[in-house]
Amino acid sequence: MSQVEAFSAAEVIAAKRDHRALTDPQIDWVIDAYTRGAVADEQMSSLLMAIFLNGMDLREISRWTDAMINSGERINWSALSRPTVDKHSTGGVGDKITLPLAPLVAACGAAVPQLSGRGLGHTGGTLDKLESIPGWRASLTNAQMLKVLQDCGAVICAASADLAPADKKLYALRDVTATVESIPLIASSIMSKKIAEGTNALVLDVKAGAGAFMSDPKKAAELSHVMVGLGKRAGVNTVALVTAMDIPLGLTAGNALEVREAIEVLAGGGPSDVIELTVLLAQEMLELAGIKGADPAAALKNGKAMDVWRQMISAQGGDPDAKLPVSKENLTITAHSTGTVLSMDAKKVGLGAWRLGAGRSRQGEVVQAAAGIEIHAKPGDTITNGAPLFTLHTDTPAAFARAQESLVDSVRIGDLAAGEKIDRLPLIIERITD
Ligand code: URA
Repeated sequence: MSQVEAFSAAEVIAAKRDHRALTDPQIDWVIDAYTRGAVADEQMSSLLMAIFLNGMDLREISRWTDAMINSGERINWSALSRPTVDKHSTGGVGDKITLPLAPLVAACGAAVPQLSGRGLGHTGGTLDKLESIPGWRASLTNAQMLKVLQDCGAVICAASADLAPADKKLYALRDVTATVESIPLIASSIMSKKIAEGTNALVLDVKAGAGAFMSDPKKAAELSHVMVGLGKRAGVNTVALVTAMDIPLGLTAGNALEVREAIEVLAGGGPSDVIELTVLLAQEMLELAGIKGADPAAALKNGKAMDVWRQMISAQGGDPDAKLPVSKENLTITAHSTGTVLSMDAKKVGLGAWRLGAGRSRQGEVVQAAAGIEIHAKPGDTITNGAPLFTLHTDTPAAFARAQESLVDSVRIGDLAAGEKIDRLPLIIERITD
């Protein structure tokens, strides 16, 4: 016998269309019924658009988040002897921070259960990056995750199908109905997964600037306040940093290229912005986890974080000594004048890397491990006419022309007047604790 439904989808849609707040039972029902298939995609699309246009108040967002958590399992790490702490980034170009950060924080005494996703669009996904390491496996059972966490202190792997399944369905629908960029929907989507993941504490790295999906720092701060509130209400000690994504992070965008850069950081080198953000986020995570006296900057220099990285990669079948894939073809783009690099558009660089094969346009598409862009000069650097600016890597040379199109106008080179500063966002724009 079919289930008697508590509401009709049309009355829930009409309530939000008419600017009324949804009740707790309406929210619980619509998320559950959509997950079971009793609310159709076209009905949920209408409701999402009504939410996109008319918003939700904090009570509604909180209940919506809980309903998505309750659609699946909630992981329990109580068998661990260390406190758990995770980091989530809203995504950016060249954002490989998770790779050095997870082993670093583990080396300093916390447990880091990092359940990650794959990239869609111009920002890369952590799993895609790690999959460029020969043999490395993203899919683990919960028992395997626990074992890697117990043995290494950190695990980076794919979230199981049982973790907030309502969000998986909703996110795919939002992607094709132009309803992604809504603060209530983004906040509940991210936080439902992080709360279900069972971490005790969470640091959010909310990106702002051209390469972020929320380019306005004020909007990024607004999103941060909502997410911090949701985390705290669920008993997860949460802090957010709004950080710069107007220019790419580090000197690489693309899967294997970014792994190589992350390994440089773990070896005590690497670009200064990647080191600075990694250490700052590690300090935030350790503070939230209640670990005192650790020195993450030293753990990068003295090889302790690298030891955890090697252990963690091996535990998931990867060979930490294997040669990373190299592209079949590359092409260097040179500077067209002499001067200072005044600006670099992260989005255009990300799009270029994506067009070279580093990213996907549809879920399930295969990415090229070696594709991407190396950046030879960043804003503030001086460069001479004809010197290398970017090196493009791909296995499909036909992609060069389209990638070059996206890089046209991505960089401005000129002269800085005396006393003039590069116009760019500070690396840390704001710290949000409530
Ligand atoms: N990342 C998510 O997980 N959900 C969103 O809605 C946006 C970014």
